[in-house]
Amino acid sequence: MALYSDKVMDHFLHPRNVGVIEDADGVGEVGNAKCGDIMKMYLKIDDDKVIQDVKFETFGCASAIASSSMATEMIKGQPVDRALELTNKAVAEALDGLPDYKMHCSVLAQEAIHSAIEDYQNKEKEK
Ligand code: FES
Repeated sequence: MALYSDKVMDHFLHPRNVGVIEDADGVGEVGNAKCGDIMKMYLKIDDDKVIQDVKFETFGCASAIASSSMATEMIKGQPVDRALELTNKAVAEALDGLPDYKMHCSVLAQEAIHSAIEDYQNKEKEK
């Protein structure tokens, strides 16, 4: 069996939603100390708490890039509360699986979303 599914390869080679949102409502950055990979997530959230746009930058492995690409697709257009429920397992499943030793890469995507939403919620409190 190939190491990576076709979906992982597709999202790695053609990642969706790569980039920066200059006036983002929430920004989150997380890293994995062991492998050194870093993921940054930007969210644009409207007054109804729906994620209108999402972009990411990932300095990391193929699985991390594919996971962030898939995760952004899964939360775009979703209410913040739903996005918080997205698990790394669901991201990996949507990619038709990741090798066991690469599951931590999908955790980075889940953590980046949580961190960006936390940033958004903190800013909302200050308003
Ligand atoms: Fe570190 Fe994939 S090896 S995120």
